[in-house]
Amino acid sequence: MIRVNFVCLGNICRSPTGEAVLRSMIAERDLGREIEIDSSGIIGYHAGNPADPRMTLAAQGRGYNLTSIARQVTRRDFEAFDLLIAMDREVEASLREMAQNDDALKRIRLMGAYHPDVDVRDIPDPYYGGGSEGFDLVIDLIETACAELLAEIVREHGLKSSGKDGKGE
Ligand code: 4NP
Repeated sequence: MIRVNFVCLGNICRSPTGEAVLRSMIAERDLGREIEIDSSGIIGYHAGNPADPRMTLAAQGRGYNLTSIARQVTRRDFEAFDLLIAMDREVEASLREMAQNDDALKRIRLMGAYHPDVDVRDIPDPYYGGGSEGFDLVIDLIETACAELLAEIVREHGLKSSGKDGKGE
């Protein structure tokens, strides 16, 4: 079992979207028994809350159901998850501060690093300002990055992916 935890600042916009997008890709490829997904946030301010309604609406428009309930990331997450995927460099820096040893540090990744456009480093925080474009952009970037993330997990762990058409890849 490979365990993936998406981490953003509030756990109500970007990481719930990462969770839903990767879950959908995993279901399409029949990998639900091999890969477990969760999300969390650096701050606990929104803990217990569902995703932001603006993010939920944008995600619905693209066929994703955001079901996560916000929670704050903890040091235990560095043991419970193989990968902690930071949605931007600030979140990555916060995770690095929390990590207590090399093994924990090695589990941290930057979501933008999976995006083929090298200029994409951060998934921009859509929470403040801006209109619906910010939320749509989050989904665009996360869909592209998640496809590469999943391909890497499949490769590295030698998983048998059924492929979208069920004929194998
Ligand atoms: P997220 O967006 O990190 O993508 O969930 C945010 C949500 C809430 C806040 C900041 C970012 N906030 O400061 O409350």
